[in-house]
Amino acid sequence: MGSFGKLAKRAVETEMPVMVKIQEVIRGAKNAVSLAQGVVYWQPPKHALDKVKELVEEPSVSRYGADEGMPELRAALVKKLERENKLYNSSVVVTSGANQAFVDLVLTLCDAGDSVVMFAPYYFNAYMSFQMTGVTNILVGPGDPKTLYPDADWLEKTLSETKPVPKLVTVVNPGNPSGTYIPESLLKRISDLCEQAGAWLVVDNTYEYFMYDGLKHTCIEGNHIVNIFSFSKAYGMMGWRVGYIAYPKEVEGFVDQLLKVQDNIPICASIISQHLALYSLEEGPEWVKERVETLIKNREIVVEALSPLGEGAVKGGEGAIYLWAKLPEKCVEDFDVVCWLAHKHGVVTIPGSACGCPGNLRISFGGLVESDCRAAAERLKRGLEELVRDGMVL
Ligand SMILES: Cc1ncc(COP(=O)(O)O)c(C=O)c1O
Repeated sequence: MGSFGKLAKRAVETEMPVMVKIQEVIRGAKNAVSLAQGVVYWQPPKHALDKVKELVEEPSVSRYGADEGMPELRAALVKKLERENKLYNSSVVVTSGANQAFVDLVLTLCDAGDSVVMFAPYYFNAYMSFQMTGVTNILVGPGDPKTLYPDADWLEKTLSETKPVPKLVTVVNPGNPSGTYIPESLLKRISDLCEQAGAWLVVDNTYEYFMYDGLKHTCIEGNHIVNIFSFSKAYGMMGWRVGYIAYPKEVEGFVDQLLKVQDNIPICASIISQHLALYSLEEGPEWVKERVETLIKNREIVVEALSPLGEGAVKGGEGAIYLWAKLPEKCVEDFDVVCWLAHKHGVVTIPGSACGCPGNLRISFGGLVESDCRAAAERLKRGLEELVRDGMVL
């Protein structure tokens, strides 16, 4: 080994996953608590887990299933999409999580060398999916300085001026890393701009149920729109790896191309995991919402912990499980701040530079129960007070 010359440029030139770097930080910091990873603290529904236990010896669980997913699960998801998301013209392919869904879509819709559009601060894995598939012309648009909403005026200009027209535009709603949601009228405008320009719009709805303050998550559909969903956060199923793609069923050839990619990555999502997803769906959105409500307190605790950064420094958090915080001007090297907070104050966060916006932090408030979140937030607050007052003193 030893020589990068023998490895694919696509891989070598792709960013290192920020979570890999962060794991190293965690390993090197004694007893550090994590406000870093985008996870929830709960487990899948108990009755769903119990039912799945009974299936372990069932032979079909150990065989391959249909590439597009188990028929019963797909049928249940089509109903869910109609009932909850008002998507009436979508078919479903079940994937091994939303990240795999995104890679499937990039390989189905884009060629190496195409240009694509995303907005800062962006979801790092989406960025990496483009890079590693050869879609290196990634146009990153700004978010509104106050709200962080994707700048639709910039999108209009970019779609009209870039030749050839970007192949795909992607947004996350509500967002990772900022927790900002996209209001329906803005989503509609983004969609209209994509349709007029002839670009695909891929919307990642991983956090569809994670909405606060009475705000509502909405989905839209059209023959240029593909929606992605995930069981990971909603049902505490991160390790079970189930997500799905809702694609426009009227677009000829779409699913044929998609299934070529699907057949070469997971073949099918894990069968036992698909059973768990189906049983979990029986609990319905209320089960999820009850748990999401418990995060309101966590968000409040973390917002308070970020107060040393001053007024206007904290943004987002209307949805998802994230807050986005501006570090003091002198802290452009945000990874250094992350390391310092971990080693000196025992709390881990994500640097904004991983999301295209150096000088910021992403803080996740989903992974800890309230008492643990409070303890982590106390460390964070102490660290930020010191950072603002004295800088990164070792
Ligand atoms: C916006 C977004 N999309 C996708 C994923 C990955 O989800 P999954 O576990 O379903 O692959 C995450 C996980 O953090 C996410 O935040």
